[in-house]
Amino acid sequence: MASKDQPNFLILGAGVIGLTTALTLRAAYPTSHITIVAKHFPGDRSIEYTSPWAGANWSSMVHDNGPLEHYDRVTFKKFAQMVDVEGKGEEVGIGRMGMWGVFDGKIEEVGVLTEETGRIWYEELVGGLEELSKEELPEGAVFGLDFKSTFRINTQVYLNWLQAQALSSHIALIRRHYPSLISLLSDFPSTTLLVNCSALGSLSLMDVRDTNLYPTRGQTVLIAEPKTPIPRMYFRSPKRIDPETTYVFPRPNGGGVILGGSRQDGNWSAEVDVQLAADIMRRCCELCPELGRPEDLQVISHNVGLRPSRKGGPRIELEKWSNGVPVVHNYGHAGAGYQSSWGTAERALELVRKALGTSSKL
Ligand SMILES: Cc1cc2nc3c(=O)[nH]c(=O)nc-3n(C[C@H](O)[C@H](O)[C@H](O)COP(=O)(O)OP(=O)(O)OC[C@H]3O[C@@H](n4cnc5c(N)ncnc54)[C@H](O)[C@@H]3O)c2cc1C
Ligand SMILES: *[C@@H]1O[C@H](CO)[C@@H](O)[C@H](O)[C@H]1NC(C)=O
Ligand SMILES: *[C@@H]1O[C@H](CO)[C@@H](O)[C@H](O)[C@H]1NC(C)=O
Ligand SMILES: *[C@@H]1O[C@H](CO)[C@@H](O)[C@H](O)[C@H]1NC(C)=O
Repeated sequence: MASKDQPNFLILGAGVIGLTTALTLRAAYPTSHITIVAKHFPGDRSIEYTSPWAGANWSSMVHDNGPLEHYDRVTFKKFAQMVDVEGKGEEVGIGRMGMWGVFDGKIEEVGVLTEETGRIWYEELVGGLEELSKEELPEGAVFGLDFKSTFRINTQVYLNWLQAQALSSHIALIRRHYPSLISLLSDFPSTTLLVNCSALGSLSLMDVRDTNLYPTRGQTVLIAEPKTPIPRMYFRSPKRIDPETTYVFPRPNGGGVILGGSRQDGNWSAEVDVQLAADIMRRCCELCPELGRPEDLQVISHNVGLRPSRKGGPRIELEKWSNGVPVVHNYGHAGAGYQSSWGTAERALELVRKALGTSSKL
């Protein structure tokens, strides 16, 4: 019994994007029916499911002077609302922390400036970006920035929190794998609108392969928390997006410390590369003196995840599908799914409103 006020929303995917989109729809349509269908849910650890493998932190990589910056800004403000205003950072798994970002190239060449403004767009958002002094820079680095305060996310806690929010707001969860969208929609014939948050999983949907999608393999090492707490996050990179980025990332609330990383485009391998892991640990110990020596690190797990990268950036679009059911796409967030999640969900909501013909307030 779908009506404009009581639509039946069907969401494919239960990663950070599917769950956040579902909660955003719930807030806008309190009486709607919402169902999330997915093969994987929080708690699962599979190479087909990217969300559990993220670091994760907020550290914007975009500089389009447009929608992509907007998505990251909206998400930063949502995290700030939850942590600073509502005081529920512990429960949610998000905390504030400073970060040192170190670059091996000149500022104009490393992909951090917005061309139109000649500035780093998020300077005010993170409470200021101060240049690191020569003494603070590791050997060979060209410049570094001290992000006064950004966010780090314990993805295990955060994904479970998103799922608990979904359950307590009466969003139905169904675990199933669908080989095609036709088969999905024929099982849910009263669907008013489908939201597609299937990430790389789509490459196995027979009727809808988006060949702009490709995996960017990321390998990390989870280590025990050292007795002397690490005071900040660190990254070091030849430029903002680079296969050789090194990062050290203390997670809040018992999340351990994540060491990274790698960016291997087009590589589907789920196997741990032992040599790469050793290289990551060496690079991290060089960057973060608090870690000590590589041989003293207490390794808890080696992790491999595939970022859902997409030529042309994330796809957030409305499409009328062949059998008349509108589809809102929200996929292809690459290495930024957490930090853009609330912003892209808000954009998906605008498209849902458009599809249902209710005028948008936005
Ligand atoms: C090493 C690493 C570090 C990262 N660090 C950060 C970071 O610091 N900050 C940040 O913002 N991002 C980071 N990311 C990126 C982030 O993890 C991703 O952008 C995000 O998890 C993508 O979420 P998603 O919901 O789109 O996809 P996924 O989490 O992969 O979810 C896809 C969902 O769709 C379901 N699905 C797909 N196809 C089907 C089907 N046919 N039938 C049923 N179900 C289906 C799956 O089961 C799953 O539930 C990192 C990623 C990696 C690998
Ligand atoms: C769903 O998203 C995938 C990418 O995640 C895409 O290939 C596919 O075309 C989308 N489904 C529909 C209904 O178009
Ligand atoms: C994919 O990555 C793995 C692990 O680093 C590596 O061993 C392998 O050679 C890579 N494959 C390709 C095709 O690049
Ligand atoms: C921080 O986040 C960016 C994008 O969100 C990611 O690519 C990077 O690896 C992360 N770095 C750290 C320090 O965790």
